[in-house]
Amino acid sequence: MTSQTVDDLSARLAAPLGAAFADLGLDPALGQAQRAQKPEFGDFQCNGALAGAKAAGRNPREVAAAVAGRLAGHGLIERVEVAGPGFLNITLSADAVTDQARLLAADPRSGADCVANPRRVVVDYGGPNVAKPMHVGHLRAAIIGESLKRIARHRGDTVWGDAHFGDWGYQMGLLIMAVREEQPDLPYFDAGFTGPYPEESPVTLADLDRLYPLASARGKADPEVRDAARKATAELQAGRPGYIALWKHFVVVSRAALVRDYGTLGVAFDLWLGESDADPLIPGMVADLEERGLLQDDAGARVVFVHEKITRRKDGSEGPDLPPLLVVSSEGSAMYGTTDLATILYRVRELGAEQCLYVVDKRQGDHFEQVFRAADKAGYMPRAALEHIAFGTMNGTDGRPFKTRDGGVLKLADLIATVTAAATAKIEEAGVGRDLPEAERQDIALKVGMAALKFADLQNFRGNDYVFDLDRFLSFEGKTGPYLLYAAVRIKSILRKAAEQGLEPGPITVDHPAERKLVMALDGYATALRGAHDKRAPHHLAEHCYALASTFSGFYTACPILGSDGAVRASRLALAALTLTQLEAALDLLGIAVPERM
Ligand code: ARG
Repeated sequence: MTSQTVDDLSARLAAPLGAAFADLGLDPALGQAQRAQKPEFGDFQCNGALAGAKAAGRNPREVAAAVAGRLAGHGLIERVEVAGPGFLNITLSADAVTDQARLLAADPRSGADCVANPRRVVVDYGGPNVAKPMHVGHLRAAIIGESLKRIARHRGDTVWGDAHFGDWGYQMGLLIMAVREEQPDLPYFDAGFTGPYPEESPVTLADLDRLYPLASARGKADPEVRDAARKATAELQAGRPGYIALWKHFVVVSRAALVRDYGTLGVAFDLWLGESDADPLIPGMVADLEERGLLQDDAGARVVFVHEKITRRKDGSEGPDLPPLLVVSSEGSAMYGTTDLATILYRVRELGAEQCLYVVDKRQGDHFEQVFRAADKAGYMPRAALEHIAFGTMNGTDGRPFKTRDGGVLKLADLIATVTAAATAKIEEAGVGRDLPEAERQDIALKVGMAALKFADLQNFRGNDYVFDLDRFLSFEGKTGPYLLYAAVRIKSILRKAAEQGLEPGPITVDHPAERKLVMALDGYATALRGAHDKRAPHHLAEHCYALASTFSGFYTACPILGSDGAVRASRLALAALTLTQLEAALDLLGIAVPERM
């Protein structure tokens, strides 16, 4: 159930359709109509007569004809036809379409409805790590997560976007040891030092960028380095003051750079909680799990068994459908899953969260399933309130996961720079913004680049892989971000010209078929938004933006706006203004910002 300011046409049709079914002694819920698949079928199609006749043992065509008879003369409806085995093809009256356009134009949310029962939701969509550069997996999480956060919030949920900063693992120990090797005389390493520790960081971002890959490689190659790093990690986690003080500098330096990169992407987290913030809850949680007999021994480690059944594996052997969640390793340390489980407790206790959405690469599916089942088993949060919003990989044109030219992992900051540079070249070549000041042109290039990148991602179902093809993403034609920006900016320019000439929008009257098409497109917004929210799938909304922009373009070709007169011009101006408001709002929900001019 949803509550909304403006019912869409399908909801408005459900009333007379439902009443007609009820008149025949059938369930009014049969009166649901969907958009017609083809224009020759009218505007809406209702298949209720088929199901209703089957349930009542009647002839479907007769039921359909009886429903059609009862709808004749209703103000919303121009014509109802019975087709095939008993489909109802419904054409709306011109008045109904005009009326709907006026309702949408008067609605500040231009048709977007709200959920009936708002929830308190955490969207966990960052997952960047201290000192490790962000890569394209983090990019997809940021783009999809930011959009889902905005969508849920727009529909009335209370939402926190949480970065879930990776600030507490083994890489911290690696870094501590790497700094120690370069600057052994710093007070952080002197166990007898009583403070205070220096306020200024002994490392810059460039230092972290340089130190981490080296330390990581050495840790892999040299067991001594690895053991020292593990020991440092354990000491950090146990609260050794010098290590904590040094670690805080890593966090601050890293986070500042991440906030900047996310900012360029138009991504802002409400919470910058780290894995470390869940750490204080871990001892109590482990004790609680022990006490309730949920922790079991598994080769020296403490685990929660989370399998639901025994299944046959690919190799023919049989085993549990999911391995246990590792809570305390045989060496006594907390693991990735331990932190995620404790973080759920944190979110429930501190935020009153009722739902957690994890926007993370689909390869982490098993991990989340383990955590979710354990949380459910422990009664921390029901399984149904925990969702892994999995996404596929962004591939290179060779069809393999996107890499840099030399085969390395592409840093997010470099990707952003590449996209912005290509967008700058593109708008120069297209002559976009030629007469505008340099600063504005730069802003346009950034917006075009980000729109290209984001729309290319969000137009696909998130679970699918897609190919990074910058040339195609940046095209001003076709289903692209730049095309949508261009469409929105063109409407802005029409409205600006109208205002300069003192022309005002007026009451909408739908007359021309292209006007009618445009209103039908505008009316699809609520369904698209609901689909995006309910299915956690922004591509529904992306699809709507594209349909709206291209329908507007058809309207603009067929129906002169400034070139018409009087009430027609005022009506068309109002249609253009409504289209812009809705398009800009929908793009904003995708995280895409529209420039004023281009
Ligand atoms: N830091 C992790 C990574 O880079 C992602 C974290 C995802 N979120 C979570 N709650 N586990 O792979």
